[in-house]
Formats: sequence, C-alpha cells, structure tokens
Amino acid sequence: MKKFKRYLVTSALPYANGPIHIGHLAGVYIPSDIYTRYLRLKEEDVISICGSDEHGVPITLKARKEGVSPQQIVDRYHELNKKAFKDFGIAFDIYSRTSNKIHYETASDFFLKLYQKGEFTEKTAQQYYDEEAACFLADRYIMGTCPHCGNENAYGDQCEKCGTSLSATDLINPRSTISGVKPVLKETLHWYLPLDKYEPWLKKWILEDHKEWKVNVYGQCKSWLDQGLQPRAVSRDLDWGVPVPVKGAAGKVLYVWFDAPIGYISATKELTPDWEKYWKDPETRMVHFIGKDNIVFHCIIFPSMLNAEGSFILPDNVPANEFLNLENDKISTSRNWAVWLHEYMEDFPDRQDVLRYALCANAPETKDNDFTWKDFQARNNNELVAILGNFVNRTLVLTNNYWNGKVPGRGVTDKYDNEVLAEIGNIKSNIESNLDNFRFREALKEAMNLARLGNKYLADTEPWKVIKTDPERVKTLLNIALQITTNLTIAFEPFLPFSMDKLRSWLNYPEPKWADAGNTDLLKPGHQINKPELLFDKIEDEAISKQIEKLMNTKKANETETTKVVPLKPVISFDDFTKIDIRTATILEAEKVPKTTKLLKLKIDTGNDIRIIVSGIAEHYAPEDIIGRQISIIANLEPRKIKGIESNGMILMAEDKDGKLVMVSPEKKTANGSTIK
Ligand code: MF3
Ligand code: ZN
Repeated sequence: MKKFKRYLVTSALPYANGPIHIGHLAGVYIPSDIYTRYLRLKEEDVISICGSDEHGVPITLKARKEGVSPQQIVDRYHELNKKAFKDFGIAFDIYSRTSNKIHYETASDFFLKLYQKGEFTEKTAQQYYDEEAACFLADRYIMGTCPHCGNENAYGDQCEKCGTSLSATDLINPRSTISGVKPVLKETLHWYLPLDKYEPWLKKWILEDHKEWKVNVYGQCKSWLDQGLQPRAVSRDLDWGVPVPVKGAAGKVLYVWFDAPIGYISATKELTPDWEKYWKDPETRMVHFIGKDNIVFHCIIFPSMLNAEGSFILPDNVPANEFLNLENDKISTSRNWAVWLHEYMEDFPDRQDVLRYALCANAPETKDNDFTWKDFQARNNNELVAILGNFVNRTLVLTNNYWNGKVPGRGVTDKYDNEVLAEIGNIKSNIESNLDNFRFREALKEAMNLARLGNKYLADTEPWKVIKTDPERVKTLLNIALQITTNLTIAFEPFLPFSMDKLRSWLNYPEPKWADAGNTDLLKPGHQINKPELLFDKIEDEAISKQIEKLMNTKKANETETTKVVPLKPVISFDDFTKIDIRTATILEAEKVPKTTKLLKLKIDTGNDIRIIVSGIAEHYAPEDIIGRQISIIANLEPRKIKGIESNGMILMAEDKDGKLVMVSPEKKTANGSTIK
C-alpha cells in the first residue's frame, strides 16, 4: 500500500432535520471513528471532519410543517446530534455546520471559480411555479397522482407507494403543497455541471485506478458510468441555502448536494489555518465514510467538482456501507422505526461501548444487515461479559490477590506459553490488515480473538489451582495474562474507547500506542496496578423485552396512523353526488364463484327488484354467514360482466389500507330500497 504523509477522514454530514439513529452509527460514524482512532494510535497526522448538513428541501418542509424557521430546525438538531456523537465517543476533530459564515464564503468561492473557468453550462428549463405563493416549487413541494399506481399523494420526485422515481411533470393533477393550487410551468435559468464531459476522466480514475474500492462502491459507480452521465443542475429556486453568487440569480441557491460536500472543506478551514496541506497535498489520503445512498455524490459528482476546480486532491477511498435494518424492517424516521441515540443513552447509560460493539460486529459492510435486540443482548452477555470482561477481571483480581497488584516477573516459559506469546503478534497484524482495508467487522473479531486467547489460556492453565502447589509458575502465567490484557487495551481502543480507558486506568497504563501492540513486555515486573471494577455487566431479559415492547408499540401506532391517512379524492359537485343511487338491500343467497378465491355471487333484494351482484369479499366473509344481512349498495352502477356473470351494482364496503373489508350496513333494519343520502 502507498504510504501517505497524513490523513483526512470525512464522515457524511447528517441533515440537521432529525436525530441520529443506529443506522447512521453503524453505516458511517462508527467505522470512521474506528479508522480515525486507529490512525491516531499509529501517531499518524490525521483529522476527522464532520458537521451538520443544514440546507435542502426536507429542512424547509419540516420548518413549514412546524411553523418555525429553517434556522430554528437546524439549530435544534445541530445541537442534539453534536451531543449524541460526543456521548458515543465519536471523536471528530470538528463538528461544524453548513450555515456557518465560513461555509457560505467557501461554497460561494468554489462556485465562482468554476463559473469563471467556464465549467458550467447555463440552461433554462420549464419548472412548476406556484402563482399564489409566488415561488418555484421544488419537487418535494408538489404532490399529485402517480401515473403508475394511482396513489394520489405521490411527490414530485417519487411515489412512496410504488417506489417509482418521478419527475414533477409526470404527476397527474399536480398540486402545490404550499398553497394547494395547481402549479403552472414557468421558465427558469440554472447552472449545470457537465458530468457527461467528465465521463472519460471519471472512467479512468475510478474503473482503472481504483479497482481496490469496495465491491459495492465500485459496482455502483460502474453502473452509473455505464449508463452514461447527464449534466446536473447545481442551482435551485429556493430561499434557503447559499445564494448563487452571480448576477441575475436572485432567489436562487446552490443545490444542497453542491454545497454540502464543500462543507468538508469549510470545516477543515474552521479547524485549522493549516487546512491546505490536508486538501491540496497529494501525500494526504482523503477517505470519505458514507452510506450507500451517498455513493454517486462522493464518487462521481464531488470528485468532478474538485477536479474541475483544479487545486484539490481527490478521495483515495470511499468505503461506503450498505444499510442497517432494525428487527427485520427498514429503519425509517417518519415511521419512528429506529433506535435513537439520545433514547439509548437514557435507557442504557454508560453502555455506549456495548452498542458500538454490537453495531460494528453486525455492520452492513457488504450487504444490508439486521439489528435485533436479542443479538445486542447476546453480544454483550456472551462476548463482552463472558470473554473479554471475564478474562480481564480474572487477571486483575488474581494479580491483586496474590501480589497486591505488583506485576510478577516471567520465569521459564513452556511450549504453550511461547505459542500464546507468539499469537499476540499474529493477531496484531491481522487486525492491522483488516483495518487498513476497511474490514471493521473482521478487525473486531480479531481483537476479540486476543481476549479469547487469554481466556482460554487461563482456563487451560488454572492459576487459581496451581497457586497452591507452584506459586513460581503462577507468576509466569499471570505475567503473560497481564501482557495480553495490556495488548487488549490497544487492540480494542478504536472499538471500545470508554471501556479501554477504564481498563488502562486499572492497569496504570495511560498511553496506548499501536507500535506497542504485539509487544509482550509492556508491563514490567514490579509495575503497580490498581483494583479493578467490572468492565461489563450482564444485560437482563427484562431490559431487552422493554425495548422490544417499545418497538411493538411503534408498530401498532403506525398501523392506526396509516389507516387514518388514506388521502381524500378531489371535491365533487352536489349534482355529481346525487347521480349516485345508494340503497339498502338484503342478501338472499350467497355462493363462491367457482375457480376464484375472492369472488362471491350474491342474490339480493333491492326493494325494486331481485338481482345478482358479484363482489370481491370471499376472503373476508363466508357465504353462509351473510345470508339475511342488510347492506348498502350502489344501485345504478352500469352492469358489468365478472367471470361470465353479469353483476348489477356494487356493495358498499369499508376498506382499510391493508385491504381489510367490512360491510356498511344500516344501523337498524330498514325497508329494502330505502335511499341513502
Ligand atoms: N446530508 C446527507 C445525507 O444525510 C449527506 C451529506 S454528505 C456531504 O445523506 F458530503 F454532502 F456533506
Ligand atoms: Zn406509484
């Protein structure tokens, strides 16, 4: 691997419109933190950059919904998220924000430089405009009917019901979510980054020069590049963002995905006057930690911007992760299906390392992965407590009991001792090669193998028995166990910083260095250690059931919620309404339509006539249960042939979002043929 002089680690700037959850942590921030801590242990020159992404339409939408300003929204979540990261030991050198002055200047200058170099193309396009609110409408501000599935609440960029991505102009009956009026198309001018022009360069840079990138990242880039790139607008008609710094651009701001990655640069400037060495010296290794939804922006668009600008380095690697699910369901902010960090802190105070461990052990490195509370409990009880905690505790307690905490010297070692000592060095190099290649799960497994090695060593040699017959031998055993323990404080430091801090204070070993890992004489004979406490303790079933119950309640709440939100149809006139003839009727006979699962053939008495209606209720009602029931029908619907049977009208059924059907019947029996109005 190429040797770099320094490292610039960036972590995707989270939007400041919601709290941080375990998916963010597992996908982006834990890996970036492990990597950064590892480099620091190696005494590399490294800075870790993050901050809030404070622009973009979702933030203005949320502000509008709550009746506050966008600034109030981002202020709230910036503070909350900054604290959550700190609580979990995510050791950024700076947690900045894109509403800072320095960011406005940096992003503006960046745009201007590209503008002056003639890198942008200008183009007018038709865009929806709300004449009542007097503003252009971002896609998310437009709703209408999805042309694919008929969902009447599809957004201008996507239908959330069928998942299709849309253009605002695809929507049937578009409406502005600001005023409710039908928007009109109007010309507007925008600046475009000609990605098509950079395509050959990108192909070489990624597909040839970065074959070492993770398979999921490389694959996504390749598929974008194979499909061919289009120019991308980098401005928007919006009043929240960095203003486009050229004449004739009133009311226009930089597209959030143009300004946000520049936030990495602004944050570095804010951190250090020496920022240029991190951004402009090719001997700096820049690594972007992101989730998979950010790949195109960090591998294609931002590098194109940097390359067009000309004075910046490019990322050397972009180790994007896939997504983490929660209890077999997609994590979702809007459905509150998540474990929020600030809530975890309340329920499990002082157990940040347990979550860090469980999330890293289960990180979605190569495919989407699932977080379950049962797994969380098992990782804690069977690994952290039973292996790491148990080994460390035995070692420290025995040392205190036998020699008042003075490290004993190592006497003559036997074959087994020597094998164990050699293994410490092997594990170190395994951890290294995994961390160097962003395989954090494997690296963590190797670190745990070191604890396993120690645990087994004590179990096999049983110093608590040998002490009665051969106290000299026990000195050797415990010396080795103590060297392993000290090595553990280095190996686990990137993963479990809180616990390793404690462990080092018990060992009296304040300064871990990666260079010392593998060394088997880290604690000298006579070195005084302190009395330990428990490193980890068991998580009981009760605490886990509480979390599962919380999620079940969320599920229930969501189900009621979704039934509530079936959208309304457009308004109709009274005349339209009176055209529909709704009547009471009674079911006389009912039978299943052969070779179908859903249909019942019903003979009904409408008061005016006896007729046949075919109805799709067979999965909800057994024929024998509904004979004699009074129901409501649309009596004047034109006849329709269904499976060869003529159906004359329709039965009114209440249908919830999941398709569950319930008959709509008069509250008291009425004469058949009574009108319903
Ligand atoms: N806010 C974006 C997201 O959460 C990430 C922005 S990363 C940056 O998906 F590079 F643009 F800053
Ligand atoms: Zn749809």
